[in-house]
Amino acid sequence: MSKKIQAPRGTYDVLPSLADERLRLEQTAARIFERAGYGRIETPTFEATHLFSRTVGEATDVVQKEMYTLQDGSGDSLTLRPEGTAPVVRSYLEHGMHKEPQPVKLWYLSNFFRYERPQAGRFRQFWQIGAEAIGSADPAVDAELILLLGELLEAIGARDVKLVIASLGQPESRAAYREELQQYLRAHQDQLSEEVVARIDLNPLRAFDAKHAPTQKVMANAPRLIDRLPKEDLDHFAEVQDLLRAADLSYTVDTTLVRGLDYYTRTLFEYQSGALEAAQNTLGGGGRYDGLAEQIGGPPTPGMGWAAGVERMLMASTQPQPVEPLLDLYVAYEPGHKAAAFRLAADARSAGHTARLELAGRSLKGQLKQASRTRARYVAIFGDDGVQLRDREGGEDKVVPPETVMHHIRGSI
Ligand code: HAM
Repeated sequence: MSKKIQAPRGTYDVLPSLADERLRLEQTAARIFERAGYGRIETPTFEATHLFSRTVGEATDVVQKEMYTLQDGSGDSLTLRPEGTAPVVRSYLEHGMHKEPQPVKLWYLSNFFRYERPQAGRFRQFWQIGAEAIGSADPAVDAELILLLGELLEAIGARDVKLVIASLGQPESRAAYREELQQYLRAHQDQLSEEVVARIDLNPLRAFDAKHAPTQKVMANAPRLIDRLPKEDLDHFAEVQDLLRAADLSYTVDTTLVRGLDYYTRTLFEYQSGALEAAQNTLGGGGRYDGLAEQIGGPPTPGMGWAAGVERMLMASTQPQPVEPLLDLYVAYEPGHKAAAFRLAADARSAGHTARLELAGRSLKGQLKQASRTRARYVAIFGDDGVQLRDREGGEDKVVPPETVMHHIRGSI
């Protein structure tokens, strides 16, 4: 016998039982974005591979190990999107959105792909809700975006949430700092993990992210970027913080915050949840990416945004389950009355009610069991004596002429 085919490792099916809470999350996000003037965007599921290698960064785990890259029939290298920011900026440039009033504010709910080791809260296909504001360097953009993710997390009842912020400065100040850090790492090389040592040249900042205890000890005394930032960057960061405080948002500054993507400049932030396992406790995060548009051939264009994992938000949230009846009308019938029952169910739906009809040939007793399982408010039973209408929220059963069933229901739902 051939092996049973299953969903690929790290992926999952969104079954109807999961669809409800996802829909509610989407609607909550849509409402929050609409109020703040964000328009929805959907970019293609795959893009030219170098869109990601140039922006996310050649040295990052995402580009080095995690991209699903394929060659299509014409020999072009394409990659299933591992993230949404580079595609949105590509779209902004391609459609000349710089001609619109700036910043252009966009949001998305899309699926993304990373070849990672699957575990709780980490998948190979996952969904993100994300937002990008492109075309303004104003610190108010940063603060507003940080606030919006906070608002979303609060609206879904995410538990034990903490906001952490940092500033990375501009590439020039980072380059000088990077050299200083590399020297420090080389001087302490014998105490660092192999992985960190291997990355001293390509990505020394990642050393701050190490889980290896001796490395962490060395990093506790490492030079900090925040102490090396020029005044413009510090002023920008200070204003972001002033605005967050003006909005009563509490946060901590963590100068060692690192994110796994290379395009960030200046503001960086993450919302973490104590309800998730430490290794995957980031609900969402993002930052400023003022150099990204240039990296893909566009004019200098500031940008800022974030993305939050749908799976992680749902795991950390306490959205209440809806308790109202799920169904307005269940239509049951005795043999010989199928067509009339079929008609009533269709009419009820056209009139805007939720209605269900027996579709599996059950006995009348079986049908009534189904009706109560679906928590239908009304049950209409077509039989030789006419239509018996039952209000499951009380009252006597009534025998009514078939054409008046809708009238009875309409009066009360
Ligand atoms: P990111 O930090 O790579 O940022 O991902 C954002 C969020 O997506 C994470 O905090 C996590 O909740 C979720 N996530 C990432 N990878 C996985 C995975 N393998 N399984 C489940 N969830 C995952 C970005 O993607 C940036 N594009 C965010 C951004 C937008 N920065 C500026 N604008």
